[in-house]
Amino acid sequence: MKVLAINGSPRPKGNTYHAIRAAADALEEAGISCEILHVGHKAVHGCIACQKCHEMRNERCAIDDEVNDWIQHMKAADGIILASPVYYTGIAGTMKAVCDRAFYVSGANGNFFRLKPGAALVAVRRSGGVATFDQLNHYFTISEMPVVSSCYWNAIHGLEPGEALGDGEGLNVARTVGVNMAWLLKLIEHGRGTLPTPAAPPGVRTNFIR
Ligand SMILES: Cc1cc2nc3c(=O)[nH]c(=O)nc-3n(C[C@H](O)[C@H](O)[C@H](O)COP(=O)(O)O)c2cc1C
Repeated sequence: MKVLAINGSPRPKGNTYHAIRAAADALEEAGISCEILHVGHKAVHGCIACQKCHEMRNERCAIDDEVNDWIQHMKAADGIILASPVYYTGIAGTMKAVCDRAFYVSGANGNFFRLKPGAALVAVRRSGGVATFDQLNHYFTISEMPVVSSCYWNAIHGLEPGEALGDGEGLNVARTVGVNMAWLLKLIEHGRGTLPTPAAPPGVRTNFIR
């Protein structure tokens, strides 16, 4: 089993990385590999609402760049960690662009992230951690993905790269995410074939129009 952790910080060894590392260590100790995909330093355009992913249904975003490879990586993973630094109390721009496009493509193609456990991690100097954590969780909760939680809201604190290593509680929260994700992944694997997978819900979309 493997987990893909997406690092939305432009800083490869910044505080977001240290949160991921704590979760990844716990996963790896439990025998589950964790690949870290660094996207925060890339030039990624946001979703342009062209709806081509809905028209073509080929699991690709019409903006032909690396995001299409990352989407397939996410599809192949058993669990997904979305990790972002907090920028203006929200998800960092590049990470938001990646997530909007990846989850829109998945949604347009039968929701292929459905039922994969997901967990959010954020790195923050002071304020906006919970708001950003909430925003990241929205990608999971529209996608029928079980959300892996921890013993607090998943934020690690620091400003300069590495400062978060001094946040013992934040590291413990991130580590607990890894412990709990490993447990959930093993439960799912253990139960595979013994219980039917719930059928996908009917696509009812009224946009509030009566
Ligand atoms: C553009 C920008 C906006 C930021 N906005 C906030 C903010 O709203 N609240 C906060 O506490 N820290 C804010 N920060 C600080 C970062 O969240 C903090 O340095 C974090 O540890 C960065 O994670 P990283 O080392 O993984 O990049 C901001 C930093 C930048 C560069």
